[in-house]
Amino acid sequence: MRETGRWTQLWLAYKPRQDMGNGLYLAHIFWDGFDRQDPVIENAQAELAKGLAGMLGTVPKEVDELPSDGLIVRRIAEHQHPEENNVRYEIKCETTGMPDGTSATKEAQEAEVGPEGYRLVQEGKTLTLTAADEKGVLYGVFHILRQIALEQPLKGLHITCRPDNPLRMLNHWDNMDGSIERGYSGRSFFFENGEILVDERTRDYARFAASVGINGVVLNNVNVKDRATWLITDRYFDKVSEIARIFAGYGIRLFLSLNYAAPMELGGPDSADPLDEAVISWWKEKFAEVFARIPNLGGFLVKADSEGRPGPFTYGRTQADGANMLADLVKPYGGIIIWRCFVYNCTQDWRDRKTDRARAGYDNFIGMDGDYHDNVILQIKNGPMDFQIREAVSPLLGGLTRTNQMLEVQAAQEYTGQQIDLCYLIPLFKEVLDFKTYCKPELNTVADVVSGRTFGNQLCGMAAVSNTGNDANWTGNDLAAANFYGFGRLAFSTSLTAQEIASEWVGMTYSNDETVKQTIVRLLMGSRETYEKYTSPLGIGWMVTPNTHYGPSVDGYEYSRWGTYHRADHLGLGVDRTDTGTGYVRQYHEPNASRYNSVETCPEELLLFFHHLPYTYRLKSGKTLIQHIYDSHFEGVEETEEMIRVWESLKGKIPEDSYALVRERFERQLYNAREWRDQVNSYFYRKSGIPDEKGRAIF
Ligand code: GCU
Repeated sequence: MRETGRWTQLWLAYKPRQDMGNGLYLAHIFWDGFDRQDPVIENAQAELAKGLAGMLGTVPKEVDELPSDGLIVRRIAEHQHPEENNVRYEIKCETTGMPDGTSATKEAQEAEVGPEGYRLVQEGKTLTLTAADEKGVLYGVFHILRQIALEQPLKGLHITCRPDNPLRMLNHWDNMDGSIERGYSGRSFFFENGEILVDERTRDYARFAASVGINGVVLNNVNVKDRATWLITDRYFDKVSEIARIFAGYGIRLFLSLNYAAPMELGGPDSADPLDEAVISWWKEKFAEVFARIPNLGGFLVKADSEGRPGPFTYGRTQADGANMLADLVKPYGGIIIWRCFVYNCTQDWRDRKTDRARAGYDNFIGMDGDYHDNVILQIKNGPMDFQIREAVSPLLGGLTRTNQMLEVQAAQEYTGQQIDLCYLIPLFKEVLDFKTYCKPELNTVADVVSGRTFGNQLCGMAAVSNTGNDANWTGNDLAAANFYGFGRLAFSTSLTAQEIASEWVGMTYSNDETVKQTIVRLLMGSRETYEKYTSPLGIGWMVTPNTHYGPSVDGYEYSRWGTYHRADHLGLGVDRTDTGTGYVRQYHEPNASRYNSVETCPEELLLFFHHLPYTYRLKSGKTLIQHIYDSHFEGVEETEEMIRVWESLKGKIPEDSYALVRERFERQLYNAREWRDQVNSYFYRKSGIPDEKGRAIF
């Protein structure tokens, strides 16, 4: 059943705020150069009115002439220099590098707001929002509203903001029966019983997504089966195009996940061979029909040859053959194909120590670097395994140098606590973005690569597997909304810190009271390390209950076909991915390859990801490996208990329903943490026979 109660407004609740002198700049509004009937502009106006009414109790009065006080919204050409010559602009939201590797001069940066960018300048009693397009206006309006919600003065604002990533997407893994693959927040608000839902909630979702800069949404699960295959048929066009239209009004392009074998399942040829003429002409006709009925459609996301999904390998063709065939056919409509690199052998023999799942993405895709057509983007998970609490960064990122590439992270906490346990993921996303790939001497971080700065690509960016569902609070745990908010903000401005984002989110969602803010930010910021401590140690990953992926089962996947092993015996544990092991380290550019290859230089948090080590191995802390396992697991539980005490200090300072909901989640987290601690510690004690130096209870 669809959740019937009213859902929350997350960080757009627009509760009353202190004026901070901000009302002055919003008494009047003057529009200059924008079509007021444009849907994005209409939504921007509506949002501004709603936000100001709620937070400041004012409604800006529209004026026809340039006002001496108030807000001026002005269209500027993308490359036009600001008219106001003597104003110095603070460059805050934008990057300093140019696609060709040089550094932009401050002057050049000031000159352009660029696509989807905006500039906010306070002068005298006016605030001027300039943008080159409608989306820039929308984002500028959300900036103003954020500033007001955070009770920060608009006075003194001289800022130019341009999105760092061209594509900032959410991938929904929603199924048409209403379930969500790896969903922990109720059921889908897009689908129910094979039908598409379009209502106020669709619009609210679009508002939230747009408010943090999301500009692309994939509606359905990457595992496209059964009725979802029919999304590209007449059966669903009306509703899909209705959603596409609502999204477009918030600057969001709609994408669909595609079943690679659709021709075979929708009455076309009995093949999906990308080089077969009959298959090609079937797709050609299909896309003509689809784009005619859903004009705003951005294109398709494809999971092929992965975990049982069909793909070009079946026909002896390459991934590039498959992707390019579809890309050529959607190109006339401005469409793109986002092709996932999560391709590996999921029927591995656990006895086989040479096959290494971590190698698979790179091995399957690097050979055809440069062969993908220009409207194909390869979408690469942040790590080579699968969204673990700690794993190395995928060597495909920056390994590919001649192919459009996009980073995929998971806001849904599949392996990181499932929105029961608190795990603020922005520090993890940040770590990935900051990783130096060394694909070039300069501008070589993952953030540089996926934003297009390294290789000058236009098609690139970031995607997150969404963590939303139809729970009243959208994300199961109220605090998990910080991952939704944070992903969008980070994808827009990759230089924001995890702490800044957390602080914004708390201010907008709860209050700007310093105690509340500091307390919740502290909880968020420590949560990933705490989760890591009580789960799998030093980058080894997994050890989760098979299928559900919540809670411990140390050997759950050890003797199975999925390629996710810890290889523990009575002497030690870890996977040898060095030169003498699976050779995975060689997929990295130097100096990363050598750094990981040597146990001396390998970052300790990834030690067991890269090396098989004895329990007696001494870490830099002076502790043995086994003692580290024991200590970190005890600490993880203690820190969880401390988190609960800290949360309890907020009673009466935040709304009671939110307090109680999160308190209950913490209770479940504590239970989970204890299970993890005791199972992991007992497992390794029994394997190694080495007792805890501190003599604590191990079973
Ligand atoms: C994980 C997840 C699957 C999902 C897959 C994917 O393996 O457990 O449910 O389908 O990732 O990313 O395609």
